[in-house]
This record gives sequence, structure tokens and C-alpha cells, in this order.
Amino acid sequence: MSMSMLRIRAMMMASLPLLSLPNPNPNPILPIHFSLFPPSKSNKVRSKPLSVSATSLELNLPSISDRDLKPYLSCSMPEKRLRVAVLLSGGVDSSIALRLLHAAGHSCTAFYLKIWFQEDFENFWSACPWDEDLKYAQAVCDQVDVPLEIIHLTDEYWNNVVSHIIAEYRCGRTPNPDILCNTRIKFGAFMDAISSMKFDYVASGHYAHVVHSSPDRKDMSSVLELSNDMVKDQTYFLSHLSQSQLRRLLFPLGCISKDEVRRLAAKMDLPNKDRKDSQGICFLGKIKFSEFVARHIGEMEGIILEAETGDYLGKHRGFWFYTIGQRQGLRLPGGPWYVVEKDTQNNVVFVSRNYFSLDKKRRTFRVGSLKWLSGFPPDRLDQLQCKVRHGPSFYNCSVKMETSQDRNSDIAVVDLSEDDQGLAAGQYAALYQIKTCLGSGVILDSWDNQNFPVCAKALKIAKIGR
Ligand SMILES: *[C@@H]1O[C@H](CO)[C@@H](O)[C@H](O)[C@H]1NC(C)=O
Repeated sequence: MSMSMLRIRAMMMASLPLLSLPNPNPNPILPIHFSLFPPSKSNKVRSKPLSVSATSLELNLPSISDRDLKPYLSCSMPEKRLRVAVLLSGGVDSSIALRLLHAAGHSCTAFYLKIWFQEDFENFWSACPWDEDLKYAQAVCDQVDVPLEIIHLTDEYWNNVVSHIIAEYRCGRTPNPDILCNTRIKFGAFMDAISSMKFDYVASGHYAHVVHSSPDRKDMSSVLELSNDMVKDQTYFLSHLSQSQLRRLLFPLGCISKDEVRRLAAKMDLPNKDRKDSQGICFLGKIKFSEFVARHIGEMEGIILEAETGDYLGKHRGFWFYTIGQRQGLRLPGGPWYVVEKDTQNNVVFVSRNYFSLDKKRRTFRVGSLKWLSGFPPDRLDQLQCKVRHGPSFYNCSVKMETSQDRNSDIAVVDLSEDDQGLAAGQYAALYQIKTCLGSGVILDSWDNQNFPVCAKALKIAKIGR
């Protein structure tokens, strides 16, 4: 299976002219002069005519002045003049973030992050039209004369996100690609790539708010707070950042709502004002991403057994295509059947028709890789809030730290005030104290021993059937 991964990787290498040379730098962090503008592609891209014609841009000059934007600038540090690197995805959110920072008087440079293996999967990945995203990003920059740079982070994306996720899928876990991508790519590899360029801050169109301490209090931490728009709030996706990353971030949309963003886009006549939200490289879409990963892992036929009887029911394409609780895609008669357990050693999937007769709701779980945004746990751990997925709803919770071997990563037990129906290993749990996001950890495999009771006969058949 690792061979197929290597093969696809080799195939992708060969398709990129620049990298048909021996890979010049296996180090994930390429020096800036290298990772910027590999000659052929980016130049070609930059000189491409935009789909928005120049005349239509001239006729529709922005009809909103910087003074009109004053009420919207409270998350854009308007009191200083800063050098800001702005991540642009081609969607409305990041475009408005750029326009607010520009209106606040900062010197902005826009950056579009590109991972080129998207091109090799164009047909299969039709929902990810990066060239259209890039055209819109360029048109948005042209409206206010801000330079746009393209940064290629393919190796970093592959090494730090995709390969990690593939390894996790192989162990039967389904990690969240969005949090990994923010931590390791957008505010990881990208920040490293521009570290020599002396920007004061890196900004993006996230709905979240960072409160920085005043410059004379360098000892104080920067704090991540909920966005004004509780429904759009994206602090969950940012909860695994480090203090050194947070210190350098600016989220201009943290003080306004999605509705205001849409209204501003219309008033500014942004070229992408009517576009569906662009998901950017971090948001490849859940279903698409699992398909993508499955393609890389390949298929391996295995058997499906009924958990209660051990009866053979059919074949499957590899346990990594199935998650616990899944109903769709099993193609078994006499259902509905649910995936209740997986034997990842023997590639066996156990199913049951009685999935919901078992109480799967849980309120206590362990988290590992716990990271605190401030660098330290809060003083009190007994009255916190918790998000176990992206969305507006919280649980009250209390947290107990466990001692762990690894000094950089804590383990804790989280006790929710109510049951949750959908907790799964590999999923992130983000902790909050009222408005402040404190950090997050990854839900561990076994926080109790209440797995679905697969009968002994079924377990035995799974071993033999190997
Ligand atoms: C959380 O606890 C606070 C204070 O005890 C309470 O007011 C609030 O309703 C609780 N929220 C939830 C979602 O249980």
C-alpha cells in the first residue's frame, strides 16, 4: 500500500516541470526565494487574462470609501500602520479581510497558497477549481492595487497533513484535516516561508478574534476569543495553534457578522461578491477528503461479519472506507446495517442492525496532544466549556489533567455536563472559558471499555479469515 502512495507521489513529481529536477530541498521549509514563484507555472498564471474584464472593473469602481468602513475596523488595528501578509483564498471572506486591513491604512501583501497536486486530480476534484480561485483573488487585489504572491506549499502539505491523515486512517481513525491544515500549513509552513519578509502580522478571513496585549506588555499572552458571529465562529479550527503563532495573527472579521461581510462585498462590488464561499486549501470538503485519502491508500478486499452472530454477510473494499456508525455504502440486503466495530489488523468490518439499541452516548472521554493557546493550563479547570465539533453549540465541562510522559503534550479527562451522541477517536475537543478559546486536544481511542460487544465467534472468524 505504501508503494501506491510512492507511485502517485512519483507521478505527481514528474508532472511538475520544476520538480522534474531532483527534489532540491527535502526540508519541508523551503527558503523563500525558492518556494515563491517556481518560474513556469506562476508566471503563466499571473499573466493570464482575468475573467473579469478591465473595463468592467473601471466602470464599477469601489463605491465605498475608507471612511465608510471605519465602524468595521475594530478587529483590524486601525491605530497603527502595519505590514500585513494577508491570506487570500478567492472567496468573499478573505477578500473582505484584505479590504478592511487596506482601509485601516496597513501596507498589505496578499498571498495565495497553492498545492499543485490538486492539478493531478482535476477531474476527480472538480469542486476545487484553484485557477478560478486565483483569478478572483487577483481581481480583488487589482481593485485596491495590492500585490498578490503565490506560495507553493505542496511538499509541506503532503508531509505535514496528507501523510499524517493517511497514517491515521490506516489506524482506523478519522482526523480533522481543517485543524491540521491551519496549524501546520496556513499558520505553520506559510509563516515560516515568509519569516524573512518582516511582516508585523499574518491575517486571514477567519471568523475569530485575537486580542493582543499592548506593546509595552510583551510578557502578556495573546488571547483567542470567539467571533462576534457565534454561528460562523471558527475558533474551533484555530484551537490547536501555539502562542507564537497566535501572537502574529490578525482576524479582521472577528468583530463583524457574515451578513455584514456579504453587505460590504456588495457595496464594494467585489468581483466574487456572488460566489459561493471558497473553501481554500484547508477545506477540501469532508467527503471529498476521505475519498482522496482512500484513493491514496488503495483498496484491499475484506469481509463483513455480523457482530452478534459472526455470520458472513459480504465483502468490503478496505476498512478505511468505513467509520463507526456509518450506514451508507454497505450494500447489504435486509438492513439497515450499521458499522459498529472494525478489526484493523485483519481488515474486518463488523456490522449490526441494532446499533441504536446500544447507548452510545458518552459524556466522559480522554484527550491527548492537549495544547493550551497561552502555553499553560488555566487556573481553574472545573468550570469550562467544550466544543466537540465546529458549530455554535457548547457543553459545560470539567477537565482533569493526567500525568503524561511527553512534556510538550498533556493528557486530560474531559467530563461533559450532558451526553454527546457523536464522539469519535481522532476528533478534536476544544476548551473554552466563556469567550476565550483555551486550546484543544485529540479524543483518544479508549476512554472506557464500552466498545460494541462483538461476539467471540465473530472475533474468531475475523482472525481466521485473514
Ligand atoms: C453552563 O453552566 C452555566 C452556569 O452554571 C449555566 O448558566 C448554563 O446554562 C450552562 N450551559 C449549558 C449549555 O449547560
